[in-house]
Amino acid sequence: MNLPQKHSNTGTSIFAVMSGLASQYNAINLSQGFPDFPIDEQLSGLLGKAAREGHNQYAPMPGLPILRQAIANDFKIRYGVNIDADSEITITPGATYAIYTAFTSILQPDDEVIVLEPAYDSYIPNIETNGAVAVTVSLSAPDFKVDWNKVKAAITTKTKAIIVNTPHNPTGAIWEKSDWDTLASLVRDTEIIIFSDEVYEQLVFDGQKHYSVLEHEELRQRSFVLYSFGKVFNNTGWKMGYCIAPPAFTVAFRRIHQFLVFCVNTPAQFALAHHMGNNNAIPVGQLMQQKRDHFLALLAHTPFTIYGPARGSYFQVAGYDKISNLPDMEFAQWLTKEYGVATIPVSAFYKNKQDDHLIRFCFAKKEETIIEAVARLSTLKPL
Ligand SMILES: Cc1ncc(COP(=O)(O)O)c(C=O)c1O
Repeated sequence: MNLPQKHSNTGTSIFAVMSGLASQYNAINLSQGFPDFPIDEQLSGLLGKAAREGHNQYAPMPGLPILRQAIANDFKIRYGVNIDADSEITITPGATYAIYTAFTSILQPDDEVIVLEPAYDSYIPNIETNGAVAVTVSLSAPDFKVDWNKVKAAITTKTKAIIVNTPHNPTGAIWEKSDWDTLASLVRDTEIIIFSDEVYEQLVFDGQKHYSVLEHEELRQRSFVLYSFGKVFNNTGWKMGYCIAPPAFTVAFRRIHQFLVFCVNTPAQFALAHHMGNNNAIPVGQLMQQKRDHFLALLAHTPFTIYGPARGSYFQVAGYDKISNLPDMEFAQWLTKEYGVATIPVSAFYKNKQDDHLIRFCFAKKEETIIEAVARLSTLKPL
């Protein structure tokens, strides 16, 4: 049978490839973005409690009201924005799902969506599965800032949307308020919709601030904003997230959501609702900053060139030109097999596999993991 190819990425996701290679070679996995330390005991306790107390059947389609209200309260406290829990928040099984569902709720064949690359690897397949076209605009090293002239040049009459991501995976760059203002000026007289992937919103370092599109009154009216609990409570395997969007956008989102998954894991929703605003753990941004600093201090004794340092997210990009001139995919495989440290080649975040000889490390790991990984990398010799 001839089955249709719904998008252009025919291979397996790089995260599956590198994590698979890491387990095959018993390597330390600094490739995929997930913490390797336990979650807060209060949160795991609340999950068990919810299941024991009988919260085990389907939840309401948009999500449990107590969880949606907890999110609205949290955004009021942290950003000073008013969000209506009933008409603007939908709970989802993770942010990847929320991104796909948001795309599917508005895209039609031949629509164009601007994607800033390097980019999280689900965006382009999700756009193409909807019959739409991804128009890529590259960010350039070393600071990976947006070149707004390039974005302006990419806008056509077919441009339906632009997807942005701050703090940024894989580069750790973050947007300034002026970036949002420039974006607003570019889309003001158009019907272009914004997808804002803010899964790392709480992971910003060195006293900087994350600007959410929700704080930009003008852009907020045309934005789907996507979040992941996994990046806040170190429980990526729960696959829990949410979408915040104006009421009319939320209606469109739920039109798709109700026939994709209908509703999301009930005990996990209870646990998260009771944990939010009532947890005494050290803020995740502070925790990850300590990990970044520790990782970078050790990495300085290796021949890698540090791009950054990361201003947010779980990730640090580094160059390896002083070690090898292999293409980045081959270099990452070689490093996994020969030195027992798995990373992600940055070319995987580009549609055309642009190779600038960069790899991405995930530093969201416990101290022993970071020490052992960098000890292995310290034995690398410059060319
Ligand atoms: C930029 C970005 N968006 C979305 C996601 C997905 O989040 P979730 O695990 O909740 O699907 C990730 C996870 O790595 C990410 O890096």
